[in-house]
Amino acid sequence: MTTLHIGIIGVGNIGTLHASYLTAGEIPHAELSAIADIDPARLAAATARFGELTCYPTAGALLADPAIDAVIIATPHYFHPLIAAQALAAGKHVLSEKPAGVYTQAVEDALAVAARHPDLTYALMYNQRMNPAYQKARELVQNGTLGELRRTNWIITDWYRSQSYYNSGGWRATWAGEGGGVLLNQDPHQLDLWQWICGMPSRVMGFTYNGKRRDVEVETEATAYVEYENGATGVFVTTTTETPGTNRFEIVGSRGKLVIEDQRLRLWRNAQDEADFNHTFQGGFGQPDCSEVPVDVAFDGDSGHQKIVRNFVSHILTGVPLMSPAAEGLRGLSISNAIYLSSWEHRWVELPIDGAAFLKALNRRRETSRYRPGTTGRVLDTEGSY
Ligand SMILES: NC(=O)c1ccc[n+]([C@@H]2O[C@H](COP(=O)([O-])OP(=O)(O)OC[C@H]3O[C@@H](n4cnc5c(N)ncnc54)[C@H](O)[C@@H]3O)[C@@H](O)[C@H]2O)c1
Repeated sequence: MTTLHIGIIGVGNIGTLHASYLTAGEIPHAELSAIADIDPARLAAATARFGELTCYPTAGALLADPAIDAVIIATPHYFHPLIAAQALAAGKHVLSEKPAGVYTQAVEDALAVAARHPDLTYALMYNQRMNPAYQKARELVQNGTLGELRRTNWIITDWYRSQSYYNSGGWRATWAGEGGGVLLNQDPHQLDLWQWICGMPSRVMGFTYNGKRRDVEVETEATAYVEYENGATGVFVTTTTETPGTNRFEIVGSRGKLVIEDQRLRLWRNAQDEADFNHTFQGGFGQPDCSEVPVDVAFDGDSGHQKIVRNFVSHILTGVPLMSPAAEGLRGLSISNAIYLSSWEHRWVELPIDGAAFLKALNRRRETSRYRPGTTGRVLDTEGSY
């Protein structure tokens, strides 16, 4: 195979973005061959914009097309693992939008289907993994530059969403249609990066606030406190209702500190590991010498979507390592599920999460949800976003 024939399932906000760079020829060795959407108006809008494309009214119909090699799933979250499992069973490679799913059991089911098809690729659109600053941070943590992990702190409050955003789709911000709020829609990127760079915490205490400052049933604000196996701690603070917002990721280790903020990565290194210093220093007041070290990392402003698709295509065609395998999507999702469960039940939640307990608690919220399928929405311009 020299060209991968791709189908997009769901041509709303982000499906339209994926269609735009695929039809513009920005992904070598890939071609957009078909689109599927349950809303005929979305199919009509996409063909009006991108020219004639084979259109299907359901994911199943597109998956039955033998001309399609791979699919990009860009539907609301609940469908991600369900359509992924269907697609893999139909012999298609899968690139699913984030989050991997709403609850871990559905993702585990899709991964079980993937395990039966080792020749197929199942990846996730974790486009922020392509940001050179996060890649550098991961390298600095993993190569020991920061020493032993002590504390992580991420304030991510600059993905502002007004009421009009929430009103733009019936499924949005409802337990039955979306399955969560800021933690599940905006934050899967940061929750993934947090664990990708710093590793998984071992237990979580979460506080979520439903419908705070927005007329929605899910959380618009959350704070989580986590503990790691080695005694390190972490705090994650998020909301969609703050402006001007902050995006500050701070990682402290025994040998230094790293901060990513304002499109900049800064690194401070201690001349001596804090534990060694503490062991030997006798002067009372005093601390290890410390200096800022320039780090050569360029912010290119690229959202990373095309890079993930290029990596997905190259992995399938030439075997380059896959940047965001779907199995890794379970980790960030487990953290958000744990934050919810902890908040709902006012208790510590241990990781790995008890997926059945989370699903039971989520299902209680789905039963009383306002969402009724069929509610229509509108396509928003995603330029400059995400
Ligand atoms: N990676 C990113 O940067 C990024 C950005 C935005 C959205 N997303 C993700 O993409 C997904 C879609 O978000 P959106 O904002 O584009 O939503 P949207 O509502 O604008 O689009 C979803 C589309 O899917 C269609 N659809 C719904 N159910 C379907 C089904 N069963 N089969 C086929 N089509 C179906 C809808 O009619 C709609 O056109 C979400 O999961 C979101 O988290 C990712």
